[in-house]
Amino acid sequence: MRRFIRVVSVVALLTASGAWADASVQPAPSTGKELYKAHCALCHGGKGQGVPPMFPGLNSKSVEVYAAMMQNYRAGHGHKVMVDMAKSLTETQIQELLAYIATFPPKQP
Ligand code: HEC
Repeated sequence: MRRFIRVVSVVALLTASGAWADASVQPAPSTGKELYKAHCALCHGGKGQGVPPMFPGLNSKSVEVYAAMMQNYRAGHGHKVMVDMAKSLTETQIQELLAYIATFPPKQP
């Protein structure tokens, strides 16, 4: 339930910011899973656990933060690998990826 609320709030956040132009397109975690496995898992791990210290996990921050980071990379700021990665994805694909990232088990302290 908490994760569901997190996904919904990201969707609300991005819709409100206009980043997600076509509100009729619903993010699909299953599509996000395919995208994640194809483009992200190599560096960030199958369940977002990362490969420390080289690649950060995607299971320790809120999905809102990851959404903001992806927008930042997409705007050309930060690590070149991630800037190129984010620019190669559409807004819809990023939504789908975030919906899937939100399902990762949170990192244990
Ligand atoms: C070739 C390796 C590689 C691939 C593939 C990759 N990343 Fe990354 N990613 C990185 C590195 C390296 C960083 C750390 C960048 C930095 O230090 O600022 C990073 C950082 C991030 C961050 C910020 C995490 C944080 O807590 O700082 C997010 C979010 C992210 N990646 C998402 C993705 C997504 C989504 C994909 C798939 C579309 C992806 N990455 C694919 C290497 C990769």
